[in-house]
Amino acid sequence: MTIKSIHLATVSLLVSFSLLMNACSDSSAQQDAFTYLDPDAPIDERVEDLLRRMTIEEKVGQMNQLDISVINQDDGEDMVRLDIEKAREFILEHNTGSFINGEAVPPEVWFEFMDGLTRVAVEESRLGIPIIFGIDHVHGPSYMSETTIFPHATNLGASFNIENSHNSGWVTALEMADVGHHWNFAPTLDVGVNQFWSRYYESFGEDPYLVSEMGRAYIEAYQNNEEIYPYKLASNAKHFIGYSATETGWNKTPVQLGMQQLFEFHLPPFQAAFDAGLMSVMISSSELNGTPTHASHDILTKLLREDIGFEGVILTDWDEVGKLVAFHRSAPDFKEATYMAVKAGIDMSMTPLHLGFYGNLLELIEEGRISEDRIDESVRRILRMKFKIGLFENPFPRNDRLDRIGSEESRLKSLQAAQESLVLIKNENEVLPLRNPSRIVLAGPSANSKRNLAGGWTIAWQGGEEEQYPEEMHTIYTALQAEYPDATIDFIPELPARSNALMNRLNRADMIVYAGGEEPYSEFLGNITDYNLPQEQRDEISLLSSSDTPVALVLVQGRPRLITDIYEGLDAIIHAGLPGFEGAEAIANVLSGAANPSGRLPFSYPMHSGHYVNYNYKPSEMYFFHPDNQDPFSEPNPGTMLHMFGHGLSYTTFAYNNLELSSDEVSKGGSITATVDVTNEGEVAGRHAVLWFISNKVGTVPRPVKELKHFESIILEPGETRTVSFVIQPEQSLWYPDSNRQRVYEDGEILVRAGDLYLPFHFKN
Ligand code: BGC
Repeated sequence: MTIKSIHLATVSLLVSFSLLMNACSDSSAQQDAFTYLDPDAPIDERVEDLLRRMTIEEKVGQMNQLDISVINQDDGEDMVRLDIEKAREFILEHNTGSFINGEAVPPEVWFEFMDGLTRVAVEESRLGIPIIFGIDHVHGPSYMSETTIFPHATNLGASFNIENSHNSGWVTALEMADVGHHWNFAPTLDVGVNQFWSRYYESFGEDPYLVSEMGRAYIEAYQNNEEIYPYKLASNAKHFIGYSATETGWNKTPVQLGMQQLFEFHLPPFQAAFDAGLMSVMISSSELNGTPTHASHDILTKLLREDIGFEGVILTDWDEVGKLVAFHRSAPDFKEATYMAVKAGIDMSMTPLHLGFYGNLLELIEEGRISEDRIDESVRRILRMKFKIGLFENPFPRNDRLDRIGSEESRLKSLQAAQESLVLIKNENEVLPLRNPSRIVLAGPSANSKRNLAGGWTIAWQGGEEEQYPEEMHTIYTALQAEYPDATIDFIPELPARSNALMNRLNRADMIVYAGGEEPYSEFLGNITDYNLPQEQRDEISLLSSSDTPVALVLVQGRPRLITDIYEGLDAIIHAGLPGFEGAEAIANVLSGAANPSGRLPFSYPMHSGHYVNYNYKPSEMYFFHPDNQDPFSEPNPGTMLHMFGHGLSYTTFAYNNLELSSDEVSKGGSITATVDVTNEGEVAGRHAVLWFISNKVGTVPRPVKELKHFESIILEPGETRTVSFVIQPEQSLWYPDSNRQRVYEDGEILVRAGDLYLPFHFKN
């Protein structure tokens, strides 16, 4: 045995011993074999053994989740300082089984906190059931300082490279496990169908297949990270289901979706996650088809449990039981709301600031309105998750390898993700890359900001204060200084009004870089009424565009703000999204050509306010009868979207040739292979995501004009050709669900598309 494994074995033995001592104080249990403490016993037996020892209060406590503010020291200083007496009150008197949230404090502070909290649960409670700690580390451990912060999900989607989503999940697990954070409220699997939604950046994009693949890669990496041994973590995907289909773009607008649509466009990412072993889901806080999802027996029990067969934990969103009263007004009081949510099928309530759910549920059981059997169902699932992640064997955090947090290796993974996520939307006259400039004018609200690059859910819910970000983190300004050490970076923090002096200053530069976009926001605080890029920024950009110098706009934004009226005046545009802590370096690399841009839009960039279209739209008169467009399978007409899903330029060009199919017919159980040659025709190496679409010519339920079914990210040297393939299997790609979630396979002609090439084949049942 190595020293490390001896240490771990000793810790594990001590834990089992202290649990046994606690449990033995329960006299009825004294003669028993403590199966639940036996790491070698099957998990289901451990769960049943523990369940039968638990009082009803202990069971209900497991279903309750509280915010850490209730157990923090209340002295007005930083959060994340445990008040041990409060922890005892909540855990020992009220049996609380889970806590959440926190602030961005150093790993050592988290270690102290989690160690103390765990000791109360494991060493002092009657049965020694460890608490499970949940947190929103949605793009790296964002509620901890000194960690690696990845780009947000929409950026990962833009990379069309699942390795980046894998790395984000992997690094997040690596950096949170040792401090005792067990359960991450990520990934977000909501499909970004409304580009103006205030949570847009949390979605991987507008296509269900893209979201599915990115989500699956994240969950597999996060839940199966071997580097965190002996720990294992649980992922909590969110928000089940339809949350993103907000009609107005405002968060939590009631959602109306036909079941066919829900199953075809919103369920696939969750299904892929369930297939990947996802341990829990969080419920959508919207109303879906007239019922708040938290009160919907049809969605939570009939669909999710009975029909889909999901066996993991169903967690509410923040105070959503309470919001059945205060927000949705569908329950008269908190007790009825508790009844509704439990009857609908929730397992755990993120209550999160009081014991209302706990007290109400005990009363409902006492009154016979909710049975103990129903409680057992939920507690079983919660305990099973705790056993599955090894919490009973390894409940304590450790501080002997915290130096792995924020390592150079992880930082480089985040940098790679950031580089690959930048989308070069426009590059008139190939003004980019900008090599060997002597002078660059830099302006715009994101030019010298760290917080804008990382967005919401970083350091704090709405993003931190500028000075809370790591000292060594670059802004675009400092990154340009590092990228171009011999050039003058003429940064203009406040752009003055037009004057001769200003125009001379602009005209002397080789390029003007304007870094605009949005400041951080999350949830409803990101609701807006005007989707245009703010007027002030558009005015500044127009002023800069009137100079003789080329202007490159860098959009640091969580959603595609409208730029239609300034588009023509710009020479280059980079949609940078929210690229995280390494974002500025990635932007400088792309501007200079040190990195060749390879991101592709994971959404359709809207052109007009009030009119947004997803690329996989259904046939519509507007497109079909347009004079330039008589082909129902072609792309929508200009005038509809500024740029289509998948658009993204490179410093090289990729040509598609020789699209071939191994056969022109396929049936269920069979497959055909499509191949295409992709050639790098330019002078520089480049990464390129090959996107494969299909278009069904016939569908009883009218089919989208085209649908992404496969993608692959490749790197090609100048002049290199690679043959890439897509194995088309009907069971994977050639069916759609009906409104009962039954698969529909329809005979007919289908087009397979890669680049601007397409070929038909037949599907026959
Ligand atoms: C959000 C969730 C988040 C939760 C806990 C809610 O308001 O909708 O996405 O996980 O808060 O912070």
